[in-house]
Amino acid sequence: RWTIASIVDEQVTRIREQIGDGRAICGLSGGVDSAVAAALVQRAIGDRLTCVFVDHGLLRAGERGQVERDYVSATGVNLVTIDARERFMTALEGVTDPEQKRKIIGREFIRVFEQAERDLKAEGDYRFLVQGTLYPDVVESGGGTGAANIKSHHNVGGLPDDLRFELVEPLRELFKDEVRRVGLELGLPETIVHRQPFPGPGLGIRIIGAVTAERLSILRAADSIAREELTAAGLDRDIWQCPVVLLADVHSVGVQGDFRTYGHPVVLRPVSSEDAMTADWTRLPYDVLERISTRITNEVAEVNRVVLDVTSKPPGTIEWE
Ligand code: XMP
Repeated sequence: RWTIASIVDEQVTRIREQIGDGRAICGLSGGVDSAVAAALVQRAIGDRLTCVFVDHGLLRAGERGQVERDYVSATGVNLVTIDARERFMTALEGVTDPEQKRKIIGREFIRVFEQAERDLKAEGDYRFLVQGTLYPDVVESGGGTGAANIKSHHNVGGLPDDLRFELVEPLRELFKDEVRRVGLELGLPETIVHRQPFPGPGLGIRIIGAVTAERLSILRAADSIAREELTAAGLDRDIWQCPVVLLADVHSVGVQGDFRTYGHPVVLRPVSSEDAMTADWTRLPYDVLERISTRITNEVAEVNRVVLDVTSKPPGTIEWE
């Protein structure tokens, strides 16, 4: 019934009605959803949109540069980068409960956007906050009719009660495949539109246990190897995403050379999915699994074991937290 072009037209009209001659901030994560939401709002209100990229220290290797370079060159959007690594690390110190992590991260994002709003005061009044919230995020955060709270997506259930921004969420009724088509319709490059999903709370919800700088760097190294090998094997478009999870509070005994090691396991969680509401574990080729496992255990000193998650969703969710 709906063509993609008509979804774009309707959303642009609605955004113009909502924002009027006001200004909006959009948090860019580097992912598809926020990129497409920003592009829609940019089409609606032009340079009264300013994008904010928050470096919260929970990013994967190379992510910050990718947004600063690729997204800006594709769209010409105004971009401000904020280094908030210390703020997030302090707020997350010692926190192990997944819902608590999600709520803290959601709240800190908003605090950083508020800071950005104050910094931009000279240009005008930025009262609106654009988010790339999708329909499944709303449902899983318990916002859909009768749905249970499965996990609080950082941009839905993680919002603080005293939120002063008015939210603009043009993707709230869409699924990921529709969002990707909207992105292509708006002229975003394939490299952005076909990126695999990565959660806003980032590596913070892929460390099982408290988040520390050291654990982040271990996970970042293991994740980067897994991504490199999956890309080299040409599998990027065959899998939905492949979280790498660090079991930071678990130790396992290993042997390297003649020496006993006592390190951590990481979990590979490759999944196939249409919309992330359900998923199947991806049967990755054994030789690819072997290369990932060998490289991670050779190159990341603190990891001595690589395990594979063979659970579908349900009963397992995609992310471990
Ligand atoms: P789950 O773990 O619920 O994940 O099966 C479904 C999809 O959503 C992503 N995800 C998030 N994305 N903020 C996001 O932007 C979040 O808080 C969040 N939690 C999960 C996850 O990576 C998967 O693609």
